[in-house]
Amino acid sequence: MTDAELLERADAIAEHAYAPYSRFHVGAAVLTRDGRVFEGVNVENAAYPLGICAERSALARAVGEGCRPGDVEAIGITASPCGGCRQWLWEFRLDRVTFPVRGGELVTYAPAELLPDTWDLDA
Ligand code: THU
Repeated sequence: MTDAELLERADAIAEHAYAPYSRFHVGAAVLTRDGRVFEGVNVENAAYPLGICAERSALARAVGEGCRPGDVEAIGITASPCGGCRQWLWEFRLDRVTFPVRGGELVTYAPAELLPDTWDLDA
């Protein structure tokens, strides 16, 4: 699956977002190294900080199916990832992060490019 196809999956799932407060629907799709795809959407809550972003929702689904850091190859996201999600993308050691920028052009980065001088904790 190409990064553009992964983004198409993210786009399609975004309509399932639960975002009654911001009305900003986000979709994400992760590709595992063994070829599986897990999708996620943002899920908001009336207590605002309790909401979860689409990227973390997709990664949590992959983890629930047994994935661990290093098992996920790429993610497509319908929006630029927030700072907290960039830390998750770094921790799970993805190779590629693809999302559209202004004008719709797709960009692809390594997590380290999105989060320089990263912080780690020995597991
Ligand atoms: N959001 C995401 O799902 N991913 C991001 O990386 C950026 C922000 C969501 C959170 C919230 O539900 C909505 O977008 C508006 O901030």
